[in-house]
Amino acid sequence: MSNSVLFKSSIAKKYFMALTGLFLCTFLVGHLLGNLQLIFNTGEEGRRAFNEYAYFMGHNIFIKVLSYTTYIALIVHAVDGIMLTIQNKKARPVKYAYNNPKANSGTASRNMAILGTLILVFLATHMANFWWKAKITEEIPLHVKTIEKSYQQQNPMTGQVTNIRYQINHLLTTKGEYIPISVKDLEHDTYVNPQTGESVQGNDTCFVKIKDGFHVYDKNTNLNIGEAYKDLHTVVMTFFSKENSNALFGVIFYVISMIVLGYHLWHGFASAFQSLGLNHPLYMPIIKKIGMAFSIVVPFLFAIIPIIIYMNH
Ligand code: HEM
Repeated sequence: MSNSVLFKSSIAKKYFMALTGLFLCTFLVGHLLGNLQLIFNTGEEGRRAFNEYAYFMGHNIFIKVLSYTTYIALIVHAVDGIMLTIQNKKARPVKYAYNNPKANSGTASRNMAILGTLILVFLATHMANFWWKAKITEEIPLHVKTIEKSYQQQNPMTGQVTNIRYQINHLLTTKGEYIPISVKDLEHDTYVNPQTGESVQGNDTCFVKIKDGFHVYDKNTNLNIGEAYKDLHTVVMTFFSKENSNALFGVIFYVISMIVLGYHLWHGFASAFQSLGLNHPLYMPIIKKIGMAFSIVVPFLFAIIPIIIYMNH
């Protein structure tokens, strides 16, 4: 390939990298706002809000199109980045003539390929932990709210008063209702029939039938009651909670990955505008400042999510 063809194809790749990179920045903002709910909205209300949000994200057609655009943007960005790096290494004259790294950029620029690869490793791990479970295997527990009730029972013969504690489990459906699905006698650690008070086992412990993992049916009438929400909130919380022996490793991995992401964005944000030819001398200093703020604030906020979950759970 002649130098000029190589140069043109490099320009095209940089153009696509810039477009996809800026698109991925908008994804990061949306993803961050959704995930910040994990630390700012707590308790059952927060869990419900996050699971409703995750359901909406997985079912809204507009969001689905955006999701597929994100996957394509990620692949184009990564493939173009790898090809540009290989191309630059192979064609030294082009590298020195048009892109002398030491002369026109800092450490982050020279290490973009390494930083990008580390982000790919983070993404592969991240998607395997959450996205794979949520979208592919659907191995997510259903959203169950548990409330405890207790009352005192007096033995008419002896007069002795005993405290009876029950746990009532409710399933949250997409109709916004909490449906009672089972009652557990906490004194005897057995499920009970709430009408008779007798202990039940196996299929009888649950008052509803669940089909395909989340469709809820009335056991007696076989009528569809609704769709149960998946509990992605608990999956994320458990992942970063101290109860999980690997959580600390996970938190450290996320924090280091966010520092790497920050470096990548530090160089990438402003250079994307340059690659697109939008480097107007009047606006470039402002764009550079916005880029610097973006590359600090966004990774910082992402990084505090696992830290705060770990500290609180
Ligand atoms: C503390 C930080 C983060 C948390 C708690 C988090 C959590 C999640 C969860 C729960 C999902 C699955 C959602 C679903 O598919 O329904 C997800 C998907 C995803 N995450 Fe993250 N994430 C974090 C940071 C990041 C970062 C920094 C990136 C990119 C560099 C990222 C990229 C993605 C992508 C590309 C998906 C798939 C999105 C889709 O299917 O539309 N995440 N994340």
